[in-house]
Amino acid sequence: MKKGRFIVFEGLDGSGKSTQILEVAKELRRRGEKVWLTAEPTVSPTGSYIRTILAESLEKDMYLQGALFLADRIEHNTDPEDGILKHLKDGETVICDRYYYSSFAYQGTGSDLNWLMQMNLSCSQIAKPDLCIFLDVDPLTCKNRIDRDREKAELYEHDIMLMEKIRNKFFHVFACLKDKENIVVVDANMEMNEVTKEILKNV
Ligand code: TYD
Repeated sequence: MKKGRFIVFEGLDGSGKSTQILEVAKELRRRGEKVWLTAEPTVSPTGSYIRTILAESLEKDMYLQGALFLADRIEHNTDPEDGILKHLKDGETVICDRYYYSSFAYQGTGSDLNWLMQMNLSCSQIAKPDLCIFLDVDPLTCKNRIDRDREKAELYEHDIMLMEKIRNKFFHVFACLKDKENIVVVDANMEMNEVTKEILKNV
């Protein structure tokens, strides 16, 4: 039985998710909520394998990548000690950096989006978020931040055209899910404090 709230942050690489998640968590804790922060890919063995694929830009089949993220997500939910379902059951607010929307946008560009959506959305072991916040930043700004902040770009961070494609895919997916999921797009090109305020209005 789920008691806590489940909030997911999505956005392109370099959209400022990690910074905003910390700001939002700080504010919710100040208001007395117990907040558990987590992220995908996770630190599980499957998550580590995924991180190797990303860091070394290995050209793995997109269906395989979709299935790996799915397996990682199921373990992320069902871990009896430290899983999403357990934290929600304990009444905590769970904030997750990326979730199935990323699978749809990233793996959906090179495999079968319907297959990915069906696998993730019809799985009873994968909790449905109460809210998804999409931080929308111009892909060129994201790419400039990645080039400035990272020593080496990861699999999906090399190519601005690909980042544009992924952003379009996110919006396509949000349109498909508009009657089923609670998704809010926040213009995150604004100054950081303004973005945080805008997110908190929705949270
Ligand atoms: P990211 O949030 O950028 O983590 P970090 O800041 O630690 O690098 O996520 C890593 C990458 O994983 C990102 O490029 C998107 C990708 N990804 C997918 O392709 N599919 C998924 O289902 C998820 C959760 C992430």
